[in-house]
Amino acid sequence: MDKFLIRGGKPLSGKISVSGAKNSALPCLAAPLLTSETVILHNVPYVKDLITQRRLLEDLGATVLTPELRTHKVTAANIEIFEAPYELVKTMRASVLALGPLLARFGKAKVSLPGGCAIGTRPIDLHLKAFEKLGAQVSIESGDVIARAPNGRLIGAVVDFEKVTVTGTENVLMAAALAKGKTTIRNAACEPEIADLAELLNKMGARIRGAGTPTIEIEGVEQLGGAEHTIIPDRIETGTFLVAGAITGGELEVKDCEPQHLRAVIEKMREAGVEIEELNQSTLLVRRNQTGLKASDVSTEPHPHFPTDMQAQFMALMTQAEGTSTITETIFENRFMHASELIRLGAKIDISGNTAKVHGKSALMGAPVLASDLRASASIVLAGLAASGETVVDRVYHIDRGYENIVRKLRTVGADIVRITDQLTMSAGEEV
Ligand code: EPU
Repeated sequence: MDKFLIRGGKPLSGKISVSGAKNSALPCLAAPLLTSETVILHNVPYVKDLITQRRLLEDLGATVLTPELRTHKVTAANIEIFEAPYELVKTMRASVLALGPLLARFGKAKVSLPGGCAIGTRPIDLHLKAFEKLGAQVSIESGDVIARAPNGRLIGAVVDFEKVTVTGTENVLMAAALAKGKTTIRNAACEPEIADLAELLNKMGARIRGAGTPTIEIEGVEQLGGAEHTIIPDRIETGTFLVAGAITGGELEVKDCEPQHLRAVIEKMREAGVEIEELNQSTLLVRRNQTGLKASDVSTEPHPHFPTDMQAQFMALMTQAEGTSTITETIFENRFMHASELIRLGAKIDISGNTAKVHGKSALMGAPVLASDLRASASIVLAGLAASGETVVDRVYHIDRGYENIVRKLRTVGADIVRITDQLTMSAGEEV
């Protein structure tokens, strides 16, 4: 398994660019299943999860061309298979995003039920209840979700989510786009990725209003067509780079980002003593202020509040702040796996239920550590960059799922980080 070797303690400086948003590209790559015409997507990040999503589309019978590295041309004219097998779903939960489009266009779909994962049990019951609301018959047989639309077409309805769900909202958006009549989604997720998907669907001919707010209205249409769309910048990669600049005491220009999409993160980092300047609409300059960082409390909440996907990175930052920070995780029940690895690097953290108390400031010192999920990996890489001595991060395949060329990007701004490739398990990735 590949590892990263980090020799920390060097302030990062220079310019670093943000790639397209993984969590927007994933549903946007599923959306072409709704039409026989070609959908062209630009700014698709070159990360493992997108390679998996592409494989899923091809397995179903779609053609995916890549005229340029980050442009995908998807044509789903000859779909012959209507199922996402366990092999794929177990490696990437976002495969469930095939369910909505297949059910809406073909009236049937079978997707393996994802199990729990490193951060929680993560059921998809709310997706399934919503499909039932739209008239689908849903059953679970031998670990697969089998959904059918009687008479071949879903019917518009009111879907009132009892809990905010991002991919649940995306699945219903895609399903309702081709349903008969009007669908209203209440308590919809407001993440920027929802608005991005809705923009693509509207370009394809859908009639969606209100995406990005808690109430979304969808007027179903008979069919959808081709479109061209550019994926929004990755707000979590942006936030990760902001922390990289701050935790190493450097000065980083984070380019090609959308500051509006991470207001809560920027505000929280400023409160903790990080200077963040908006140089223009797509560039942020980050540096630590002269007086150092101070403890700051945070609780994760659905957008527009502080995202769970930035909790681990913020915890790494708070190990360098004076005082005790309280970090509360409200979205996933098991998302503190990085804490034990940060402790190995010298952090002082107590966990009680869904709350972590980080007592700073700690002098971090390099050690061998294990990546347990995508954002936990980012957190320990950040801590490794701030630690003295050598940190070896094992199981970095987690980080490859969602961060494009992280080693190359960080090296460009002065980090001493290399990838140690295990020849036996060499996978799509980046150069050493
Ligand atoms: N939930 C249910 N039932 C459902 C769906 C969700 O109980 O049917 C619960 C979940 O267990 C969780 C909460 O609702 O406690 C929110 O889950 P949500 O459905 O919003 O998460 P998701 O759609 O599975 C997406 C991102 C995650 C991100 C979360 C929260 C994608 C592909 N994934 O997951 O991203 O953490 O929203 O913002 O968009 C990551 O990129 O590292 C990542 C994990």
